Amino acid sequence: MTGLFVTLEGGDAVGKTTQAEALEAWLTALGRRVVRTREPGGTGLGGGIRDLVLHRPEAITPRAEALLYAADRAEHIATVVRPALARGDVVLQDRYLDSSVAYQGAGRVLDADEVRRLSLWAADGLLPDVTVLLDLDPAVGRARRADRERFDRLEAEHDDFHARVRDAYLALADAEPHRIVVVDAALPPDEVQQRIRAVLQPWVGTTA
Ligand code: TYD
Repeated sequence: MTGLFVTLEGGDAVGKTTQAEALEAWLTALGRRVVRTREPGGTGLGGGIRDLVLHRPEAITPRAEALLYAADRAEHIATVVRPALARGDVVLQDRYLDSSVAYQGAGRVLDADEVRRLSLWAADGLLPDVTVLLDLDPAVGRARRADRERFDRLEAEHDDFHARVRDAYLALADAEPHRIVVVDAALPPDEVQQRIRAVLQPWVGTTA
């Protein structure tokens, strides 16, 4: 059995965690071994980087931020993702290089192609088989987050930042329609789940 690399992308509070949990249960019931992981923070080193990029009060310059995400990615892909794929597992990953292109490229206004090349260099060229983009109006995402007490550094960015991130994601999906599938995250969570399963179904070789 060959491994399958699936990434979930989208703005903040689009419901990636809920969807990943339900997907893991479905794939496991189908007999697949699933490694559910995330960036930043999928390794020991990554846990420290996650803390640095998200929870420290001092500002980080855009290039330093991009390099920290890339360092997290390099360690994670080499030590967690590639070994899992080599074993034939399904890797279900919350965020990957498209996050860097959208957040550091469009959000922080670095050059998107350079950010993408940096990520691909960090990951030694690994692209997902399938990327599910959970698309949501940032205003709806903000309302979903309203009852949370603490925002991380990127969540706390202004509306214009999140609008640019969304537009960048949609442009990525337009540019790579064979890899990136857009699912409307404003739909009820069960419906979102059914749509994602329908996308993955040909890859896992069974009916959704
Ligand atoms: P995450 O913990 O997945 O938050 P959320 O639950 O909102 O998805 O991601 C943390 C933040 O890191 C998120 O705001 C997006 C940001 N991020 C980047 O800016 N660049 C990246 O390459 C990655 C992986 C995440």
